[in-house]
Amino acid sequence: MRPVSLDQISGNEVLAQALYDLDGRKLLNAGVSLRPAIVEKLYEKGISVIYINDKLSEGIQVNGLLCEETKTRAKCIVREEMQRLSQAKELNYSNVSGVVDSILDEILSRRIDIMNVKDIRMQDEQIFAHSVNVCVMAIALATKLSLPIMKIKNIAMGALMHDLGKAFIAPSILNKSDLTKEEMIELKKHPVIGYNMVKEDNETTAITKIAILMHHEHFNGSGYPMGLAGDKIHYSARILTICNEFDAAINDPKNSNFLQTTDAVEYLIGASGHIFDKAMVDEFIKIVPVYSEGSIVLLSDGTMAIVVHNNPINLTRPVVRVFYSTKKKSRYKNPYIIDLQDELSIKILREVKPNLKDILR
Ligand SMILES: [Fe+2]
Repeated sequence: MRPVSLDQISGNEVLAQALYDLDGRKLLNAGVSLRPAIVEKLYEKGISVIYINDKLSEGIQVNGLLCEETKTRAKCIVREEMQRLSQAKELNYSNVSGVVDSILDEILSRRIDIMNVKDIRMQDEQIFAHSVNVCVMAIALATKLSLPIMKIKNIAMGALMHDLGKAFIAPSILNKSDLTKEEMIELKKHPVIGYNMVKEDNETTAITKIAILMHHEHFNGSGYPMGLAGDKIHYSARILTICNEFDAAINDPKNSNFLQTTDAVEYLIGASGHIFDKAMVDEFIKIVPVYSEGSIVLLSDGTMAIVVHNNPINLTRPVVRVFYSTKKKSRYKNPYIIDLQDELSIKILREVKPNLKDILR
């Protein structure tokens, strides 16, 4: 299994994972051939990347952190609560709490070495899927930071609800990528709106409320709504800021800063100590794979390889399967495995997106 951009699909590829809509209905079965009409439908849904099964990616597994059922239920609850807020100005706390417990159970029941945070999502579920992914990442990071379970739960609640204030922002602004100054001012109101919606709620904890309010604050004071800096920003919000911006960078193609995971990790490192809390970024990058499984990389010896699996101890040196020599311009009849953690004379130069139709001919 490997991820492929829709614009690289030639028509003979086979879908590796079933696709579901926001209500959990199956849109496409795993194993279906990606004919042009199907690819067209995927474009219409706003999907830009999908997973395929092919000879090159044989034996490679890419697993998300949540099962499909929990993920769908969580997305539905975020949607329901946003609707409830905008219509009745109230929140069903037990709905949110119940699904956060399910997410926590699922994530904490396995040891998190590395989290696959690349998400396949449709445009109409972007905001809900984003909230769920931020929640998953926040739990993983808070766990890595050795926070007690009750604090992790409160941060997870804030993560799932962090953008609830967007229920009161016009969809024309939410769905636009190039915002005017006035529209940006409007969008930036959502943390305060979200906070105001929960601040009188007795069941919502102070940590959760503050996480919602401060999730766009930046470590150097350049964020909003209050322009707080350093430790003045609550630690729960410092966790959310990292997860929020990282998910937007790698999973929202409408985002003007849409990046490959490698570039997004570099951005986090470059901005640590300025935008983000450095100690937290240091822990975050230990659990995010720089090169996701199934991605294609160029190696320093002039060969091309596919990432088979990551080494939790060193995320820049995964196990790869070499299939092509760029020097000889020929594919290897018998691709071979290299564990880059052992083979220190070779390094990954960068992730590439070659035209495999020509290469593998
Ligand atoms: Fe936000």
